[in-house]
Amino acid sequence: MREIANYNLRDNNTFGIEAFCDRLIVYDSVAEAQKAAEQIRAAGEFLIIGGGSNLLLTKDFAGLVVTPEPRFGVEQVDEDETGIYLKCWAGTQFDDVIAYAIAHQMYGAENLSLIPGEVGASAVQNIGAYGAEVKDLIVKVEAVEIATGNVVSFDNEACEYSYRQSRFKQDWKNKYLITAVIYRFHKEFIPHLDYGNIRAELQQAHIDMPTASELREAVIRIRQAKLPDPKVMGNAGSFFMNPIIDRDKFEFLRQDYPDLPHYTIDEQHEKIPAGWMIDRCGWKGKALGRAGVHDKQALVLVNRGGATGMEVLALCDQVRKDVFERFGIHIYPEVNIV
Ligand code: EPU
Repeated sequence: MREIANYNLRDNNTFGIEAFCDRLIVYDSVAEAQKAAEQIRAAGEFLIIGGGSNLLLTKDFAGLVVTPEPRFGVEQVDEDETGIYLKCWAGTQFDDVIAYAIAHQMYGAENLSLIPGEVGASAVQNIGAYGAEVKDLIVKVEAVEIATGNVVSFDNEACEYSYRQSRFKQDWKNKYLITAVIYRFHKEFIPHLDYGNIRAELQQAHIDMPTASELREAVIRIRQAKLPDPKVMGNAGSFFMNPIIDRDKFEFLRQDYPDLPHYTIDEQHEKIPAGWMIDRCGWKGKALGRAGVHDKQALVLVNRGGATGMEVLALCDQVRKDVFERFGIHIYPEVNIV
C-alpha cells in the first residue's frame, strides 16, 4: 500500500484542478484494500476516487483520499457457449479492457471506446455511449466492505443499474472499496450502429460492415472530434446528465422547438440532450472566468487554464439557471462535486 502525505491531486482529476488532500492511499490488492479500509475507519473524512474523470474538486480535502493502483490487470476467469468472462482489476483503464477484448476476439464494448476512467468507476457510474451501457457487460463487482474489512461481491442485479446510476452512487456510497469487476464479453461480434452518427462516420471511411476494430476506430474518431482531450484541456466529459422528462412536458416544449432532439425511454418519458439546451441558451464556446463551455459539445465544461473548482462550479450554476429559465427543466451534474 502506498501512502503520500499532503498530496496534490492535480494529476488525479481530468479537470487538472489543483487541490491538496491530507493523505493519499493507493491499494494494489484485496489485502491492501482491507488495510486501506482499516485506515479509513481510523480517519474521519475520506474520499474514494478512480481515475478522477468524473470529479470536480472545489477545495482542498481535509482527509484521506483512497484509490486503486492504476495498472492493467485482466484475467480470463470463465467461459460459456457464447461468452467469455474477464476479471479486471479496479484500477485498469476501462478503454484498455476494450482494446484487450477486441484483440482477443471478445466483443460487446466497442461503442464504449475511449471513455476515460477506470474499471472500478465503470461499475459505480454505469458509463455509457452510443447506445451502449457497461451494465450490459457487468456480471459481478468484487469489493471490500469498509465497515468490516470483509470481502464481498455483488451480482449485476444487486447493483440496480440504470442510466448513469447504481447503488454505489446511492445507499452504498462510501461503503465499499471496489477491487475488481467481472465482465462478460460475447464471442460473436454484433455491431450496433444505429446511434448518433456512427453510420455516417463509417460511410465516410467507405465501410459497410465494420469489424470490431473498425467500429472502435470510428467511435474513437467521433469522440475525438467532439470531446476535448483532458491532456490538452481539462474536462470531465459530459458535465450534466441528460434529463428525463414527462411526455406532456415534452409535447409542450416541442410546440416551441420542433427540432428538439429526444430519445424515447418509455410511453411516459423522453430523454432530452442537456447539451442541446445549453447550446440553445447560447453557452457553447462561451466562458466564465477561466472555466468554459466546450465549443464543439455544450455538455462539456472545460478548464481553460488554471481554473479553480469554484470557477467551474460558478459556470455550472449559471448554465443550470439559464437552462431552467428557458426550458423549465432542471439539469443535474453527472460529475461528482467535492
Ligand atoms: N447537441 C447540440 N449541441 C451541443 C451538443 C449536442 O445541439 O452542443 C445535440 C446533438 O446535435 C444531438 C444531441 O444534442 O442531437 C445529442 O448530442 P450527442 O450525441 O453529442 O450526445 P449527448 O446526449 O450530448 C451523451 C452522453 C455522452 C456520450 C454521447 C454519445 C450523457 C450525459 N452523455 O451525450 O457521454 O458520449 O451521448 O452516446 O448521457 C460522458 O458521459 O462523459 C459522455 C461523453
